[in-house]
Amino acid sequence: MQKIHGAALITGGGRGLGLAFAHEAAQCCSHLILVNMSIENLMLAKADLERLYEVSVHVFVQDLSVPDAADTLYSKVQALGIPIAVLINNAGIGQYGPFHELPWESHKRLIDLNMIALSHLTHVFLQDMIQRKQGMILNVSSVAAFVPGPLMASYYASKAFVLSFSLALSSELKDTGVSCTVLCPGPTQTGFMKNQGQDTWLAKRNLLATAESVAKLGFEGMLKRKMLVVPGLINNFVVRLSSLVPPTWGSTLLHFLQKRNRA
Ligand SMILES: NC(=O)c1ccc[n+]([C@@H]2O[C@H](COP(=O)([O-])OP(=O)(O)OC[C@H]3O[C@@H](n4cnc5c(N)ncnc54)[C@H](OP(=O)(O)O)[C@@H]3O)[C@@H](O)[C@H]2O)c1
Repeated sequence: MQKIHGAALITGGGRGLGLAFAHEAAQCCSHLILVNMSIENLMLAKADLERLYEVSVHVFVQDLSVPDAADTLYSKVQALGIPIAVLINNAGIGQYGPFHELPWESHKRLIDLNMIALSHLTHVFLQDMIQRKQGMILNVSSVAAFVPGPLMASYYASKAFVLSFSLALSSELKDTGVSCTVLCPGPTQTGFMKNQGQDTWLAKRNLLATAESVAKLGFEGMLKRKMLVVPGLINNFVVRLSSLVPPTWGSTLLHFLQKRNRA
């Protein structure tokens, strides 16, 4: 695998998809910086990664949904004195339920993490990358980005933001030496589904992609400086289909499927 000079910074790198990205990045970067809320996951990930690869792992406990989290993290990373070659904006949360029944605080937290932290982190770390004329950004969206998502309205909208933002940025960055790739996974085997309060129809039937396979495709796409990576044939089919269906129909259909999926 190609060697990268500098560190890979991975948000939510202590578990799930983020940890799978860390295993990919450890094969080509000498330094990893992992950011999570829980120190336990971070310490376990650090021990495993340093045992398996020739890599130094730096860990930061940081709630990225609080105001100015990106600036705080940037200062901590600056203190390490290692340039960031790869930024993987992976941390994200979802929630399930009618919009009006869920507390506003939980919507705000989702918006602050999935959209504000992602775009703010991109903004602060991009400055140095542009100056050095090198760097790669991988933003994690979802197939949810392509349709409105009743019963997960804030989540689907946040992922549509990540998709649109990343594709626009990718074009802006052309000829700067810096690239931006957006990864749109479908349902994947992590703690994410359970965190939304319910096991889905797909999860119960073991029909989820593995975090390792999704991270590998996303990381390889980023190394090839692709604009968009949608892992898996079915997800690609869903994305194509969504462009043919009017959003009003898509919303009605997905509302039906979301309810059925939880049955
Ligand atoms: N799994 C799927 O089916 C699926 C499908 C499409 C897209 N995605 C996207 O993939 C990304 C990773 O999800 P996952 O499946 O790996 O979920 P996960 O297993 O629930 O992991 C989420 C990660 O984000 C971190 N995190 C959550 N809130 C945070 C906060 N406020 N500040 C800092 N870190 C925070 C968690 O850290 P702690 O351990 O400290 O809580 C954890 O490492 C998300 O953006 C998600 O939307 C997932």
